[in-house]
Amino acid sequence: MSLIHEIDYGTPRSTSETMVTLTIDGETLTVPEGTSIMRAAGEMGTAIPKLCATDMLDAYGSCRLCLVEIEGRAGTPASCTTPVMPGMVVKTQTERLKRLRKGVMELYISDHPLDCLTCAANGDCELQDMAGAVGLRDVRYGHEGHNHPNPGKDESNPYFTYDPSKCIVCSRCVRACEEVQGTFALTIAGRGFDSVVSPGMEESFLGSECVSCGACVQACPTATLTEKSVIEIGQPEHSVITTCAYCGVGCTFKAEMRGNEVVRMVPWKDGKANRGHSCVKGRFAWGYASHKERILNPMIRASITDPWREVSWEEAIAYTASEFKRIQARYGRLSIGGITSSRCTNEETFLVQKLIRGGFGNNNVDTCARVCHSPTGYGLSQTYGTSAGTQDFDSVEQADVILLIGANPTDAHPVFGSRMKKRLREGAKLIVVDPRRIDLVRTPHVEAAHHLPLKPGTNVAVLTAMAHVIVTEGLADEAFVRERCDWDEFQDWASFVADPRHSPEAIEAVSGVPAADLRAAARLYATGGNGAIYYGLGVTEHSQGSTTVMAIANLAMATGNIGRPGVGVNPLRGQNNVQGACDMGSFPHEFSGYRHVSGDETRQLFESLWGVPLDSEPGLRIPNMLDAAVDGVFKGLYVQGEDILQSDPDTRHVAAGLAAMECVVVQDLFLNETANYAHVFLPGSTFLEKDGTFTNAERRIQRVRKVMPSKSGKADWEITLALAHAMGFNMNYAHPSEIMDEIARLTPSFAGVSYAKLEAEGSVQWPCNEKAPLGTPVMHIDGFVRGKGRFMVTEYVATDERTGPRFPLLLTTGRILSQYNVGAQTRRTENVVWHEEDRLEMHPHDAEQRGVQDGQWVKLASRSGETSLRALITERVAPGVVYTTFHHPGTQANVVTTDFSDWATNCPEYKVTAVQVSASNGPTAWQESYEDRARSSRRILPVVEAAE
Ligand code: SF4
Ligand code: SF4
Ligand code: SF4
Ligand code: FES
Repeated sequence: MSLIHEIDYGTPRSTSETMVTLTIDGETLTVPEGTSIMRAAGEMGTAIPKLCATDMLDAYGSCRLCLVEIEGRAGTPASCTTPVMPGMVVKTQTERLKRLRKGVMELYISDHPLDCLTCAANGDCELQDMAGAVGLRDVRYGHEGHNHPNPGKDESNPYFTYDPSKCIVCSRCVRACEEVQGTFALTIAGRGFDSVVSPGMEESFLGSECVSCGACVQACPTATLTEKSVIEIGQPEHSVITTCAYCGVGCTFKAEMRGNEVVRMVPWKDGKANRGHSCVKGRFAWGYASHKERILNPMIRASITDPWREVSWEEAIAYTASEFKRIQARYGRLSIGGITSSRCTNEETFLVQKLIRGGFGNNNVDTCARVCHSPTGYGLSQTYGTSAGTQDFDSVEQADVILLIGANPTDAHPVFGSRMKKRLREGAKLIVVDPRRIDLVRTPHVEAAHHLPLKPGTNVAVLTAMAHVIVTEGLADEAFVRERCDWDEFQDWASFVADPRHSPEAIEAVSGVPAADLRAAARLYATGGNGAIYYGLGVTEHSQGSTTVMAIANLAMATGNIGRPGVGVNPLRGQNNVQGACDMGSFPHEFSGYRHVSGDETRQLFESLWGVPLDSEPGLRIPNMLDAAVDGVFKGLYVQGEDILQSDPDTRHVAAGLAAMECVVVQDLFLNETANYAHVFLPGSTFLEKDGTFTNAERRIQRVRKVMPSKSGKADWEITLALAHAMGFNMNYAHPSEIMDEIARLTPSFAGVSYAKLEAEGSVQWPCNEKAPLGTPVMHIDGFVRGKGRFMVTEYVATDERTGPRFPLLLTTGRILSQYNVGAQTRRTENVVWHEEDRLEMHPHDAEQRGVQDGQWVKLASRSGETSLRALITERVAPGVVYTTFHHPGTQANVVTTDFSDWATNCPEYKVTAVQVSASNGPTAWQESYEDRARSSRRILPVVEAAE
């Protein structure tokens, strides 16, 4: 294996369809109009020396190293900033050019420390490479003269250092922060020889606006910005392409390695989801994989009050199988079930649901999508006929109006957030529908045209009012609707939304959104060109989550914003493989590819391949499993890669359900909160330790590749396989590719997917089958999957969760950039420097009324329970609304959330909880004893004691 080197063509690819023919160094070539001479030369294999240019950034033309001669033109223009012209004749190497380039390099080197041998970038430094490329052998000016200002090293960022002594002031970092990341955290302070790169107003990196995405580090051609891991470990010697295991953007990375140790993760330029960009999580937060708290041996215990006993894999698997068989013999076939994980691969998820359907003999399988995007599945399949977003991420580059509802991409989907910001800086308009003033409402060079700060729980009212404006003001695309949708259903829907009770003026009192703003936003979406809707959990995690998804689908159909690039309905998925987990048949009523278990033909297909009879009755959802456990009829649970105690609503009820079971099996990396109630712990593997695929939010199936051996000895799919065998259910696979072959045989939308195709294409978006062998970037182009698009009437029904004198505020929850989900991984990395604890955001008005100061402990109480955390006073939230994250188990925000849920899918109503906030002196009693309880439930007997 060797390091995978990506060619840097110096300037971005031109997308023009007009072609230009020219001659470079005597060779004739044809390239798209707008291509730079540098790139054209690079594409024919001639690397023109360069320092300030890189193909992730627009040409800048400051270093003067890339000079060329052009026939008929005076001087020596920079090849990075000069576009090709028809008939142009270019020379890239002449005596004059050699002399000029050497002169430029001499100046750079005369001002550079001569410590190459001990420099962390030695061997991976473009300055060093360019000195070699221009044949520099000595420097006439010596090194004694005046040097650039050196404000001293900045090591404040936990992941990279800034050493200004090595800076050549090429501005690549500044431009990367602006053009790629869109944060504008860096500037060049000073002028001329005194120029120096500065984060913010001469702050440290950590103290500045920097979000630690790593784009500047990647862009830096010298050792000025360097990953600390490279300084510590040394230069990598081989690399493997794989996919980030954090969020649903699904960024592709090059894992750069020394032996079995990861040196750094570098975003892969050919990654179709991220196009060479990353965020702080995927780029830097992989240290959890070797964290000391990882459990590497299987463990069992007879009772949850006993300490854990480490056992062999054989004993753990045999014990689990015998317990599950005992429970089924005593309480019946339906008394056990399992939960698949959106963090595991498609292949692993497919095996878990196969084990449950085929080995347990029931359909008691559910997944964590139950608590996030299950309404997306339901809402989009009802209206369009398929349970997924309609576009690829590239589509945003053609959007003219972006309607963002209940999503906060710069925190939760950061790389897509950066792509969105880029399009907004190019002039697309933005409408934000969110109770909070999220970053995108106003961020450098981006300002939303409209922010509709609705009251939590009123999405349906607001979207129906937008539809009211579109229909009553004649803004619907009637031609599109007549051709593509069911016309009768459209008319029913149109007369429903046109009712004056749905007018913006009528719903203003309910939603808190000024009618004029709502009208203006609706007009903009309907008439502003390509209108693209992006939404998140602020849409789905409501008692009307499915209704809101249908209201969104209605808006897109009514305005003809579906079925082409630049438009569409795009759910931004939280976890890396939440789309895949749903696709793989993780819901109790569906086989892979969203086919109902009651369908005889489909079921028989699975039965004949799996060799067992399958149940035609849907099984239990997660909340039903917990209810049944409390009722004493559900006794055994296999949980792969989820922490339902921390992530599911109404913690007390979850705990009661788990405590009532006789065998809870947790398969995970760490002893999570759910494991406090487990009898068997099976150590899982990280994404670095296994092969498989993830499917991201744009339906893109991408390879996960093993870069190091599994620390626990088994990949998660191998654990499920062993358990199936022990249960007497036959499954045989030598490699995850064989599992994918089976998925393809059984799932029409995956019929054309294979590891060979993924190797060849990099990735494909489902549906990938005979009709679309290379996948489907944009769906519903010629017609909806279900035939005619279906308009659904979306009556607004207020949630039963009401504010009142006891609980006058509304709590809504969300995520923060540096943390991920329940924090199991990110809390075990340096990312904690940005978020040491969950805080409660309160508007100054609410804080003042309660005498609460910024940073003070407050008690957060609801009908379900109470917790304490510190207050953050901010105008990001409106008066009457409070907000927190749920990343820390010591806070457990879900202690206060209720068991209200979406009417169609049971997705919990995390986003609306009536609460009261009052000043307090510190953590509540349960929080104070939390660490002791956690320690006690995590006791592991030393091996000697265990053997006795
Ligand atoms: S790490 Fe990212 S946000 Fe921070 S300065 Fe560099 S490019 Fe900007
Ligand atoms: S820090 Fe690196 S990228 Fe930025 S100006 Fe200096 S040398 Fe160029
Ligand atoms: S945006 Fe998501 S997928 Fe990309 S690096 Fe960040 S966490 Fe990973
Ligand atoms: S690479 Fe062209 S001017 Fe620097």
